[in-house]
Amino acid sequence: MSTNGIRDFRPVLHFTPPAHWMNDPNGLVYRDGQYHLFYQYYPDGTVWGPMHWGHAVSPDLIHWEHLPVALAPDELGTIFSGSAVDDRDNTSGFGAGDKTPLVAIFTHSGSHQQQSIAWSLDGVTFQKYPGNPVIPNTTLRDFRDPKVFPNPIRGGWSMVLAAGDRVYFYASADLKSWVKTGEFGPEGNHAPGVWECPDLFPLELNGKTYWVLLVSMGTHEENHGARTQYFLGEFDGDTFHADGRFTQTEWMDCGFDHYAGVTYDSAPARILIGWGVNWKYADKTPTGEFCGIMALPRQLSLVETPKGGVRLAGTPAVRAAFGPARPWQGEPLPGEVFRLTLTGEGPCTVTLKNETEQFQFGINAANEAFIDRTKAGARDFSEDFASDWYSRISAPRFYDGGWEMELIFDRSAAELYLDGGTRCFSQVMYPSTPYTTMTVEGCASAAISPLKEG
Ligand code: FRU
Repeated sequence: MSTNGIRDFRPVLHFTPPAHWMNDPNGLVYRDGQYHLFYQYYPDGTVWGPMHWGHAVSPDLIHWEHLPVALAPDELGTIFSGSAVDDRDNTSGFGAGDKTPLVAIFTHSGSHQQQSIAWSLDGVTFQKYPGNPVIPNTTLRDFRDPKVFPNPIRGGWSMVLAAGDRVYFYASADLKSWVKTGEFGPEGNHAPGVWECPDLFPLELNGKTYWVLLVSMGTHEENHGARTQYFLGEFDGDTFHADGRFTQTEWMDCGFDHYAGVTYDSAPARILIGWGVNWKYADKTPTGEFCGIMALPRQLSLVETPKGGVRLAGTPAVRAAFGPARPWQGEPLPGEVFRLTLTGEGPCTVTLKNETEQFQFGINAANEAFIDRTKAGARDFSEDFASDWYSRISAPRFYDGGWEMELIFDRSAAELYLDGGTRCFSQVMYPSTPYTTMTVEGCASAAISPLKEG
């Protein structure tokens, strides 16, 4: 049975394209009070096709304005993932008068994958550099997703680029000529496969700077489809050195629906946006005119935990969209978009329900967080989505004793943040009618915040 279009599944806070297919976030750059979000976009259909860069801007990561397609395929190929920088000092020379350029760095995917650049003076219309590609390639099959960031150690710009089962580093003074400075990988890769969409950035904890390397790790079974791993370590200005903890995979998000996440370099905080679906079934999801959502923008930090050492933590950067939290006393849910905060100690199960379906999450008896969409709604659109493997997952906490959970529910997508965001789970689901009630077993307090108007 096709469930396509059974009702409106478009979330409110998770970014969606006006119509058609979307995958990875691209070109995350903050400039003049605006967050730019570019994205992998196929404007002629609801499945993956020749890639363009779609574009939107937001002052607050909550309200988005759609802009025209920024980059379209040309003779060098289609436009795969990449990044953008605010070239305030006009290092590229693309500036004119008092206008400095926004420079996009992306993969041209043609007979080979090569890196190219384009610039914009108005933040809307882009011109491709006539000297493209700036990093040519005629040998490697998988060579893509450049993330450019300011290099605080050697000055100028650096790039981290996925090259097969590892990443390469490059440096440049002008964004046009690049020299290779190092490689990292494939050690720590917990499943054989291609690395994608890397990012590298510093975060401080107790006066110490750690560098965080994000690597999205393709669709292998061990990864539950496509997932993103992080490494903590050091960047010496040329290359990355991991701190050596490869005993367990450090997932950015333990859910099924968080991939290709990258961050804003120039923003007031380290904000990450990921693609909020899984390659395994994204093109079958029953959302009608559009296909693909972004995960919620997430603020990243490092936290020292008693059982897991230093961990990457994420908290939702969209809390301002909700009204004040009020204690929940068994009343019906306040619509299809809301925020829950819960505290307790020991096992707890929260169930959101309509008449026939339910979505569950909580803490199990083994002190693991879990999330379960087995009975959450439509699932026969994809065998993978319907399988046990993709339906429920758990992950151990990094703390004993008391816990706190935050869940943002957004019509067809839920994000769970546990223990200060040291465990995160993103999951999509398609309830045939909205969930209207909630039951909570085993928690000390529960509060609910409705979505604010407007
Ligand atoms: C990751 C990815 C990237 C690539 C893009 C193509 O999801 O496979 O590696 O640039 O999607 O759309």
